[in-house]
Amino acid sequence: MGRAVAKHIAKRNAVIIGSRNLARAEAAAAEVGGAGSGDYLSASEQCDAALFAIPYSALATAGSLAEALSGKLVISMINPLKSEGGFLRRAAEGSSAAEELKALLPRSRVATAFNNIPAGYLKEDVVPPVDVLVAADSRGTYEEVAGLVAEIKEMRPLYAGPLDQARIVEGITALVLNLAKLNGTGALATRFSTRKG
Ligand SMILES: NC(=O)c1ccc[n+]([C@@H]2O[C@H](COP(=O)([O-])OP(=O)(O)OC[C@H]3O[C@@H](n4cnc5c(N)ncnc54)[C@H](OP(=O)(O)O)[C@@H]3O)[C@@H](O)[C@H]2O)c1
Repeated sequence: MGRAVAKHIAKRNAVIIGSRNLARAEAAAAEVGGAGSGDYLSASEQCDAALFAIPYSALATAGSLAEALSGKLVISMINPLKSEGGFLRRAAEGSSAAEELKALLPRSRVATAFNNIPAGYLKEDVVPPVDVLVAADSRGTYEEVAGLVAEIKEMRPLYAGPLDQARIVEGITALVLNLAKLNGTGALATRFSTRKG
């Protein structure tokens, strides 16, 4: 998912790919048209804004980046999900991955976005029309994220409210994955309708 988003963002921004493996980071940067690559610490030090596309189980590793990401925008797309009897549920009980990330990065402006968009939707240059739900503690942080989202044609950013609303946003991913599986629809993404008049 990180590579999928990076490919679009790289059209207008200098993207640096971080990885635990330098060769993998370099290959991913070449694939997406990135401007550079490095380990997570070096990528965090170089960037103005960071996108976290790692599994929920790896979230704690973000703690070591707190200093490098201090004062910066951090966007989580992490969905904390667990499977129970073939059915997905949210895993971060009483919190959200985004709030847990904020606790690890207390001096960063943390938002959640892209959670409900399957990576496959981003494969082509023109993505299907989708709504990207963004939770952030200030409207200003939302606007920064919305600016990046709106660079991707056909993606509409929508403000979902403060960061604790990430619990709902992340939960919607479980919902759409369950809906797709239970109803055989193929991958689903968020898109809200508006009635004219
Ligand atoms: N896939 C989707 O359609 C989609 C859509 C929306 C949101 N998301 C969310 O985005 C996140 C990434 O999803 P994904 O499907 O891209 O997952 P993924 O391919 O399994 O993991 C993404 C990257 O995370 C890094 N990683 C894995 N374990 C790590 C660890 N212990 N410590 C540090 N880094 C680690 C790996 O990079 P290196 O090995 O290069 O270090 C890996 O390439 C998840 O939280 C998911 O819920 C996914």
